[in-house]
Amino acid sequence: MNILVTGGAGYIGSHTVVALLEAGQSVIIADNLSNSKRETVEKIMDITNKEVTFYEIDVTDVEAVDIIFRNHKFEGVVHFAGLKAVGESVEKPLEYYYTNIVSTIVLAKACQKYSVNRFVFSSSATVYGDNKVPFVETMGLLPTTNPYGETKAMSERILTDIAKANPALSISILRYFNPVGAHESGLIGEAPTGIPNNLMPYCTQVAKGKLKKLRVFGNDYPTVDGTGVRDYIHVMDLAEGHVAALENLTEGVHIYNLGTGKGTSVLELVKAFEEANDIEVPYEIVNRRPGDIALCYADASKAKKELGWTAKRDLIAMCRDAWRFEKNYNKQLV
Ligand code: NAD
Ligand code: WQD
Repeated sequence: MNILVTGGAGYIGSHTVVALLEAGQSVIIADNLSNSKRETVEKIMDITNKEVTFYEIDVTDVEAVDIIFRNHKFEGVVHFAGLKAVGESVEKPLEYYYTNIVSTIVLAKACQKYSVNRFVFSSSATVYGDNKVPFVETMGLLPTTNPYGETKAMSERILTDIAKANPALSISILRYFNPVGAHESGLIGEAPTGIPNNLMPYCTQVAKGKLKKLRVFGNDYPTVDGTGVRDYIHVMDLAEGHVAALENLTEGVHIYNLGTGKGTSVLELVKAFEEANDIEVPYEIVNRRPGDIALCYADASKAKKELGWTAKRDLIAMCRDAWRFEKNYNKQLV
């Protein structure tokens, strides 16, 4: 299949492009490089020894998107492109609503115009709000605490309505839990600019000595050790989940959790990181972070049953691969 991957130079997109190429699909990437680097596309080709076509465009740009659809006959679109920083979305709601909603509409319209019927969308476990764990796809969407989460819920509704109106469409909405780690080669991974918001990149930078200490946000949650519990999933497992979603797409709209089904606390993750890499991660307990929930993990049984997909890599592999990339990436920068 010829697949358009928007945001394919980004963290999850680049790993998914690797998985798609390894599964024998052809890939065209559209990315404006606002949160990624062109070198990542080269790295994807180094890892897979396969060619990728790259367009540096903004996917909210109707004419630029139209040119790509005119140039290529696609069998499917995987839409990752968008803005994803929760805190920033509170500061810049207009940018988040515009980029995340308009991009989905522009791509859906192009699919309609060029009769492309397969669409896979990056959603997030954040749409479950503070439902009771484990989160199941049949649960109602709860209001999230930030505009970013709202853009995901809204995009899900738009895609669901489009699928209802056009029975030829096959749409897969994938709700990611907490993606971490990097490709086993250490060539691609997560490289946030500035101080990381997320736990794993924060840990790798503390281990590296770039940051002094991890701040653990609260130890008074009703969890195993009082710290927040999340469902961390290796980014290559997540990537392979997209291949399974594309290969098993049927008409209608289908929602899948992509998680491991297992919760890990902040302190458990820190311990696993230290053990996996034989390195210390100094930390201190500080106040809770506003907007955080205590527990978030998936019921991952639907994806297993319908897509034949389950996450295979454990927490140690996630920590080892995240650290390998961090060491490699900084070496490249020196
Ligand atoms: P990322 O920022 O690494 O990747 C997004 C890519 O989209 C970047 O390469 C960026 O340059 C590109 N992009 C942004 N706006 C664009 C635009 N207007 N036109 C073209 N390209 C544009 O983020 P990621 O972590 O790989 O996330 C990918 C998707 O998965 C996003 O939709 C995100 O909301 C979703 N998601 C991420 C997580 C997570 O924890 N990383 C969790 C759940 C859902
Ligand atoms: C994990 C745990 C923190 C940093 C976010 C988005 C979500 C999704 C995934 C996009 C929590 C704790 C963190 C730190 C800490 N993204 N923590 N110290 O908040 O579960 O999810 O990324 O869709 O929408 O909200 O991930 O990695 O930020 O936090 O103690 O410096 O680690 O409190 O318990 P989160 P995270």
